[in-house]
Amino acid sequence: MAYSPNTIKSTTTDVLVIGAGLAGLMAALRLAPKAVTLLSKGPLGEEASSAWAQGGISAALDPADSPVSHLADTLAVAGGIADEDIAALVTDLGPERIRDLIDLGVIFDHDEKGLSLSREAAHSHRRVVHANGDSTGREVMRVLQLRVKEAVHITVLENTEAIDLLCQNNQVFGATLLKDNELQAVNAHATIIATGGIGQIYSATTNPFAACGDGLAMAARAGTSLKDLEFVQFHPTAIDVETTPRPLATEALRGDGAWLVNETGKRFMLDDHPLAELAPRDIVARSIWKQIQQGHRCYLDCRASIGDAFPQHFPTVYAHCEDHDIDPTKDLIPVVPAAHYHMGGIETDNRGRTNVNGLWACGEAACTGLHGANRLASNSLLEALVFAPLVSKDVCDFLSNKTISAPAKVKASEQSQIQPSVVKDQDVIGELQTLNYRYIGLCRDEAGLKILLKELDRIELNNPHPSTRLRNIMIVSRLIATTALERKESRGGHYRLDYPNSDPRYQRHSIVELSHLTKDIVNDTIKLAS
Ligand code: FAD
Ligand code: SIN
Repeated sequence: MAYSPNTIKSTTTDVLVIGAGLAGLMAALRLAPKAVTLLSKGPLGEEASSAWAQGGISAALDPADSPVSHLADTLAVAGGIADEDIAALVTDLGPERIRDLIDLGVIFDHDEKGLSLSREAAHSHRRVVHANGDSTGREVMRVLQLRVKEAVHITVLENTEAIDLLCQNNQVFGATLLKDNELQAVNAHATIIATGGIGQIYSATTNPFAACGDGLAMAARAGTSLKDLEFVQFHPTAIDVETTPRPLATEALRGDGAWLVNETGKRFMLDDHPLAELAPRDIVARSIWKQIQQGHRCYLDCRASIGDAFPQHFPTVYAHCEDHDIDPTKDLIPVVPAAHYHMGGIETDNRGRTNVNGLWACGEAACTGLHGANRLASNSLLEALVFAPLVSKDVCDFLSNKTISAPAKVKASEQSQIQPSVVKDQDVIGELQTLNYRYIGLCRDEAGLKILLKELDRIELNNPHPSTRLRNIMIVSRLIATTALERKESRGGHYRLDYPNSDPRYQRHSIVELSHLTKDIVNDTIKLAS
């Protein structure tokens, strides 16, 4: 489908928020009374990882716990490259932001002592609030969607896909978008990317269909700095069934004592880490991967630890199991590691600003530095919850302090070749997702990364007019493969079979721009920030 630049309908708003997960909804609410246009790729509340969150949100709410302890745990799993100031900010503000959710109407689970707090891997305290057992995301999103629908300052555009940022001279002015198969533009004084993660670039993922890195790719094309892209977290226990995405079996199951066993009944984590099933997520995921490479199948055994309480305590996982004729009170749950969370993303500062004027990012699409090379369980919703209001405040300050001229009118010449993300390119996307799981998955090496880059060249050559989905997946795959090739060490969510140890020379972030990539690919190198 081709569009003429002159026929594009355009509207104007104060702030364009791209993405309607926890980060986008919260940012939009906190922008009142500014006029906000909020884009949701699917129906509001669907196609967002936030709605699927199971385990919960971490915050030091127990009197015996403290933000300092939460900070220490966050840093301990982060592979030595978390931004300590950001981590202190997030862990400090956590309890207040949870209370905000309660004030908005979110109903968290309670026990006799008050808020019920569960424990997850690598947390030294019980500090994860949850709702209806493992249905935390659904409850939080239920309430935020209600509040957004009530808010007069927000215009929601559902089933609307942002295609590209409108950008000139290092300034973003809104975005082009596809609605009802029609290319349109929203001109905005400020634009916030809250498009979530990238799990869908892989063949095995827990993430919804929309999580294919659109925001990251759009920001990359607009010249934004991207940070720590090679760090991808694989959840150890996606349920190993033939559906895409793979349903998640929450880590809270292991927090409640579930074991990981192989088909012989061996509890293999006992050999691999002193914390066994509660070792950091990357270690558990790689142990499972190793078992699978050795020809084993891996399972969660919840029978003794959770047993008949399963349906009541974990209704979401129970329903997923039922869909596949698994009775977790009696059967083992087959599990496989699946792409779950992107630690890397659009580089942002402590107010969510990017290096491009008029552009902010928050939620999983952003890289604030909180997680470093590896994320502590349940710190992701917390990060979105803390940063969305910080971004909104900064955007409001920006809008009030500045004499702003009307945003530039759309220049759509570059969009004229856009192919909507319908069913086009499904086969080639499937092929690329499989290549990515193999070569930029849990374990990488130089030979595999170079194969992937060559395959990407071939796919690009054979698909000169890709769908928006394929175009974005190709960009994100190339960025991750190239940064993973450059990081000749292992750290957190980046594990190199050919460099299995951490190397102090790489104890730093990697910063890249798309322009570096095209330039440096010729020289077979990417610069890492010092
Ligand atoms: P999302 O919630 O993914 O929202 C992104 C939004 O952007 C969606 O509305 C999407 O449709 C939209 N979008 C994407 N592209 C476009 C586009 N081109 N145009 C318009 N809109 C677009 N973290 C925790 O802390 N605790 C948990 O218990 C937990 N459990 C999880 C369970 C599962 C199954 C998954 C997948 C993740 C889980 N996570 C958990 C991670 C966490 O849910 C996410 O990191 C977090 O929800 C991200 O929020 P977000 O608002 O940034 O993105
Ligand atoms: C889970 O419930 O295991 C997911 C938690 C998270 O991703 O933080």
